[in-house]
Amino acid sequence: MNLDQLDPQQQSDLNDWMELIRIPSISSDTSRVSDVERAADWLVEKLSMSGLTVEKIPTKRHPMIFAETAKPDGDHVTVLVYGHYDVQPAGDESLWTSPPFEPTIRDGNLYARGATDDKGQMLTHVQSVCRYANQASGPKIHIKLMIEGEEEVGSANLDEMLPQLSDKLACDVLVISDSSQFADGQPAITLGLRGIATYELSVYGPGRDLHSGAFGGTVMNPAIALCHLMSSMIDAEGRIAIDGFYDSVKPQSESEIEAWKNLPHDDETYRESVGAIELFGESGFSTNQRRWARPTFDINGLTSGHQGEGVMTVLPSTASAKFSFRLVPDQDPQAISRALQDHVQKHCPKGVRYDLKADHGAGAMVVDADSPFVDAAANAITDTFGVSPVLIREGGSIPIVGRFQEVLRCDCLLLGWGLDDDNLHAPDEKFRIADYFRGIDASGRLWQELEGIGKKP
Ligand code: BES
Ligand code: ZN
Repeated sequence: MNLDQLDPQQQSDLNDWMELIRIPSISSDTSRVSDVERAADWLVEKLSMSGLTVEKIPTKRHPMIFAETAKPDGDHVTVLVYGHYDVQPAGDESLWTSPPFEPTIRDGNLYARGATDDKGQMLTHVQSVCRYANQASGPKIHIKLMIEGEEEVGSANLDEMLPQLSDKLACDVLVISDSSQFADGQPAITLGLRGIATYELSVYGPGRDLHSGAFGGTVMNPAIALCHLMSSMIDAEGRIAIDGFYDSVKPQSESEIEAWKNLPHDDETYRESVGAIELFGESGFSTNQRRWARPTFDINGLTSGHQGEGVMTVLPSTASAKFSFRLVPDQDPQAISRALQDHVQKHCPKGVRYDLKADHGAGAMVVDADSPFVDAAANAITDTFGVSPVLIREGGSIPIVGRFQEVLRCDCLLLGWGLDDDNLHAPDEKFRIADYFRGIDASGRLWQELEGIGKKP
């Protein structure tokens, strides 16, 4: 697409996106609380200027934005759009080609933290809803938006407040764009996300750092104890070695396994795209099964001892690891925590003590493909992208979605406009500008499609 010839509407949509990105709304960073608030206020302003009823709902941490269009008379579908305006930290800024909070256009992409996750993708719906609210014929469906500022820190406050918000958020179908297309040129509807359980394990040894020559061999090194513990959790073939971990994991349906075999996927291309020497993972499962439908264990960070330049022969007094499990349907994060506690207790080497802290926990979710809402979304996507969407799952987690399904008893449409190489949570995050505009278009077409459905069948 030619970015020099944007029409005024596109130029204004692009400006909005850039404006929101310039606000570094990093939810995990306590020094950014006022920036997070500014991003919330930006949304309040945008949505109220378009005539929606808007509420800023305070929480114990970062505010949530609730907005809605006028409720139409008679039978109509009610939609809840969910998204998040908070972002991950930028990480090491020297690894970015352009500053993380200065949106920069290169090769048809907009680069910045939050470009896709989730400011860009969330705004596709905000833009289309603002237009829908003002169309001459008046809205024929009722659209609500819940845009929160804590997704990247696990959505604990929305989770806790959900029962009291359930009337306000009541809907027939939930619409979320916070995931990806299957591939460039191949849009998708996502029928499942993995759940997540995250932990921090600290191991304590001697009361202070010791000289490893003077004292090595006389006490347990906590870094070594931590290595033993971490490697006890997974075998060399990639199977998780915690008793009971797989107990509630059900086999995937044959029809889904067959359908995934027909997805345009090639292991070698995938290997190259992630820059790995070779692919690895639980045997007996395809790459897509392993990343979408199988539970996994990953160490996210390891810390102990000397990390600076040169040698320092220290026997550190502590060591710690941050790690997470991705969960599949029917695995309960709390049951996983219990199994993990037993495992760590049993496998912790003598001579050290440990502290295991659980952080986020959220179950996996799946969507029934056999829904008129999925058909409506497929029509909207086909009309916009010129290609019909494939049905996939994704391996990432949106912690609150499963809870929405439970509490609101709604259908769910996960419509990712991003691409696998968008660098979410990494340096040089990007979102293709043409896909931002396509997302806005597909979102608008979806509202039209839903007008034809009538009340939830
Ligand atoms: N947008 C992602 C979720 C996602 C990533 C869906 C990749 C599909 C594919 C979301 O913002 C996210 O990063 N979630 C976190 C949740 C965690 C911080 C509790 C995740 O999945 O790690
Ligand atoms: Zn994210």
